[in-house]
Amino acid sequence: MNIEVKSGGGNRLDDLRPKALVTGCAGFIGSTLTDRLLADGFEVIGIDRFSDYYNRELKEQNLAAAMQHPRFTLIEEDIVEMDVFPAVDYVFHLAAQAGVRASWGRSFDIYTRDNIQATQRLLDFYATDAEASYRLKRFVYSSSSSVYGDIELPMREDRMVQPVSPYGVSKLAAEHLCYLYWKNYHVPTVSLRYFTVYGPRQRPDMGINKFVRAILAGEPVTIYGDGTQTRDFTYIDDAVEANVAAALCDTNNSNVCGETFNIGGGNRISVIDLIHAIEDATGRSAILNHVGEQKGDVQDTWADAGKAERGFGWSAKVRILEGLKRYVAWIDGGD
Ligand code: UGA
Repeated sequence: MNIEVKSGGGNRLDDLRPKALVTGCAGFIGSTLTDRLLADGFEVIGIDRFSDYYNRELKEQNLAAAMQHPRFTLIEEDIVEMDVFPAVDYVFHLAAQAGVRASWGRSFDIYTRDNIQATQRLLDFYATDAEASYRLKRFVYSSSSSVYGDIELPMREDRMVQPVSPYGVSKLAAEHLCYLYWKNYHVPTVSLRYFTVYGPRQRPDMGINKFVRAILAGEPVTIYGDGTQTRDFTYIDDAVEANVAAALCDTNNSNVCGETFNIGGGNRISVIDLIHAIEDATGRSAILNHVGEQKGDVQDTWADAGKAERGFGWSAKVRILEGLKRYVAWIDGGD
C-alpha cells in the first residue's frame, strides 16, 4: 500500500498526510516499521532513549536511512520523563526493555519503568489531551508471547495467561493498561503478542542472531538446556505488516480495540532443528555448547493466529527456511 500525497507537498497537503508516532524507533522492530511507514507516505515522529541494553551504534545504523528522510523526526527522550507527546493518527508503541532472561533481580526496576510506567504515561496522555485524543485513530502496543507462560498449545488469546518471567509480567501489565484505557477513555488500543521475531536488525542478545554469527565465525553455539524447546519464529516483515494492518483496519471495529492478538509465524521449530536449518542456510557446521536451562524461558511457544486473521486480515507469509535465507544474506552483505 502507498498513500503518498503526490503533488508537490506544500503545507496544506502535508497536513493531510497520515502521521505516526513510533516509540522505540531505533530498535529492531521499531526501525523496520519506521522505514515501512516512510515508504508508505506517512510522516513519522520517532522517540527513542537509546538505552544501553545494547550498543548505540547498532541502533544508529538501524535509523540511518530514516534520519536522511525529510518526513522523519527523531526525539531522543525517555518517555517516562516526557509530559507531552505529538498529536498523531497512529501510535506504534514499541519502546521497551526487552529480553526475557535478563529481567530478574534489580534489573526488574528497568522493566517496570520502561515497560509499565512508560506505557501508562503514553496512554494517559492520549486519553486526556483533547487535541491528541481527538486525532488518534489507533494505538498499537507491542506485547509478547511471553505473557502466556507454559500453557497448553497452541496458544490462544482466550486462554489463561501465567508468565514465567518478570519480563512477561511487565508486558502483561502493560496489556492490561491498554485494555483499561480503552474501556475507560476509549483510547483505541490493540495489543500484538509477537512470537520471537527475527530477521535483519535482530537484537544481538537473541537466539537466531547469536546462532548465525557464531556458526559463520566457526565459534561455539550456546544452547540453553537440551535444545528441545520450541519457538514459533516470526519474520520481521510479517511483524511489521501486523502493525500496519492492526492500525489501518476499520476503527469502528469493536472486535479489535481493547483486544490482544497473537502475531506468530506458524513456524514452530525446536532450537536444535533451528540450528540444523542454519547449518543448511550457511553451508557451515555448528559447534554445540550446551549450558543449563535459563530461568524465565518457556519450554514451547506456538501461536494460534486465527484471531488476527479474523480481526484485521493478518497472517504470516514468510516461512522459517526462507526467512533464515534472507537473514543470512543480510548478514553476509555486511551490516
Ligand atoms: C524473544 C524476545 O527476546 C522477547 O523480547 C520477546 O518478547 C519474546 O521473544 C516473545 O516472543 O515473547 P525468546 O523467545 O527467548 O524471546 O527469543 P530468543 O532470545 O531468540 O530465544 C529463542 C530460543 O533460543 C529460546 O528457546 C532460547 O532458550 C534459545 N537460545 C537463545 C539459546 O538456546 N541460546 C542462546 O544463546 C539464545
